[in-house]
Amino acid sequence: MKPSLVVLGIETSCDETAAAVVEFSDSSATIRAESISSQIDLHALYGGVVPELASREHLRNLPIVCEQALSGAGLAMNDISLIGVTSGPGLKGCLLMGVTFAQGLGTSLGLPVNAVNHVEGHMFSHELAGNIVEYPFLSLVVSGGHTELVLVEQLGKYQVIARTMDDAAGEAFDKSAHLLGLPYPGGAALSQLATSVESSRFVLPKVTRETEDFSFSGLKTAVALAIRKSKHILDSEDKARAEMAYAIEQAIVDALAHKVRRAVQILNVPRLVVAGGVSANKTLRAKLKSEVPEVVFSEPKHCTDNAAMVALIAGKRELAGCSSNKLEIMSQWPVENLMNP
Ligand code: KG4
Ligand code: ZN
Repeated sequence: MKPSLVVLGIETSCDETAAAVVEFSDSSATIRAESISSQIDLHALYGGVVPELASREHLRNLPIVCEQALSGAGLAMNDISLIGVTSGPGLKGCLLMGVTFAQGLGTSLGLPVNAVNHVEGHMFSHELAGNIVEYPFLSLVVSGGHTELVLVEQLGKYQVIARTMDDAAGEAFDKSAHLLGLPYPGGAALSQLATSVESSRFVLPKVTRETEDFSFSGLKTAVALAIRKSKHILDSEDKARAEMAYAIEQAIVDALAHKVRRAVQILNVPRLVVAGGVSANKTLRAKLKSEVPEVVFSEPKHCTDNAAMVALIAGKRELAGCSSNKLEIMSQWPVENLMNP
């Protein structure tokens, strides 16, 4: 007999091919197994994600990660009750690989396949560690592809408080790291470089405090100019490079924390959850902890792209009666447009 609800989640929106099995009983979710194949080393050769290469890798890795997730869970394909797949937002060709694979699997096994919004997955990824945060809460999703501050009123009812008008926070880290000569993706390396100093002689402009939304493209220009102006000292002094990294990190963290602080005050919502690759940043964590009464971070492995969050959303929505089997690929898919229960 099949257990209550066993969901196979599939994620291919960017450069990770991932599958996970999540089981729901009494509406609590347990990860049975997960498998992920990262393409970072491949794309690092080109200094960023090459969409065509990413799609090809997904095609190759999808059967492998699904097989690994199932065998890790000790299950066979016919033990699965539902497939959840990321259908947006993300890179079109990459999404297409995951969705087509999931559709094929669903048809051959006679299983329903539901569409999952990747950002919604990040917004609830803290629940994968058993942390259930009371509604309403604020969710800050900060990664290489997304920078969104969302008011979560209930599953499916979201108000975007701020999103980026240009680069994502992770992109700001990565592009600055590139300018400092660090390898892609660079965010973690830049942060590591910054840890050896506690102040900086370099002054970067405060990032868009006046606008409603985030914007990091001005910072990128300011960093490029500052690095060019101080090239000699940066080339000859390791401490100066660390100080530049420190100034960059402070500028990005300050921009994120400023909007969070304002939203907490204006909306009077004291609970914040933080996810996405940039939420691994120690300076950001410390700053948010010191400024928001209740902050919950996703576990490091679920901060970054993963399939457990996809299975989680597919299962939550199925149980709440608000799932969608419309498998349309949406490279842009704002969370405000999601279906309510
Ligand atoms: O969530 P993620 O793995 O993939 C995307 O969906 O983009 O996020 C990757 C991003 C990269 O930009 C990476 O540089 C950044 O997260 N990142 C960090 C740190 N660790 C990862 N940025 C700053 N500090 C870190 N410690
Ligand atoms: Zn993501």
